[in-house]
Amino acid sequence: MRTLNLLLALVLLGMIAAHAVVRPSPEQPNVDVMPEMVHSPAAEPYAASPLLANNQVLQPPPPGVVARGVSLERFEANPAGAERAAAALVAPPAEDGDAARGASVYATFCTPCHGADGLGQGPVVARGFPAPPSLLAPKATDMKDGHLFHIITYGQMNMPGYAGQIGERDRWRAIAHVRALQRSTR
Ligand code: HEC
Repeated sequence: MRTLNLLLALVLLGMIAAHAVVRPSPEQPNVDVMPEMVHSPAAEPYAASPLLANNQVLQPPPPGVVARGVSLERFEANPAGAERAAAALVAPPAEDGDAARGASVYATFCTPCHGADGLGQGPVVARGFPAPPSLLAPKATDMKDGHLFHIITYGQMNMPGYAGQIGERDRWRAIAHVRALQRSTR
């Protein structure tokens, strides 16, 4: 142990001495030992690059790539597709925290038009957007979960689709929140 300490003390002294002799200027950058690693050639996603196809950094995924958490089932964005989704899709089993998350997804993405109570008088409607029908009316109450999922995913008439903004699991949680709203007024 003592020899080791002595050795380390000598190394330290040697380094201090070397520093005093070399006197690196604080205005000069240090030597890059591996410049390729220090200065990465990585490009920004939306930048242009002559090295890549179409001169663009952002490339489409190779054919056959499947994003995680995205089901492969696709439905036509029309009433027939909605019917098929209504028959084919079942809400996944509930998990802890679903209710809070569903309320938050609903508050963010649905309240603007449908209102916190689901009656269809959200702030966007107050400013002139066509009012949606009440989510508490029998039509929505009787709709299958899969049909609601289709509407959130692809939209319906004046309502845009939210597949790009709301992940699949969160769509189901928002549906559970709509169901809770419907139950609370029955
Ligand atoms: C930009 C405004 C807007 C937003 C945001 C919006 N909706 Fe809609 N929604 C509408 C309109 C308008 C309709 C009526 C479409 C039609 O004419 O068929 C509608 C229809 C619906 C229906 C069908 C109701 C029925 O009786 O036919 C459901 C269910 C629904 N929305 C759920 C949701 C959910 C859940 C969200 C949040 C994820 C959401 N909407 C977000 C505007 C919106």
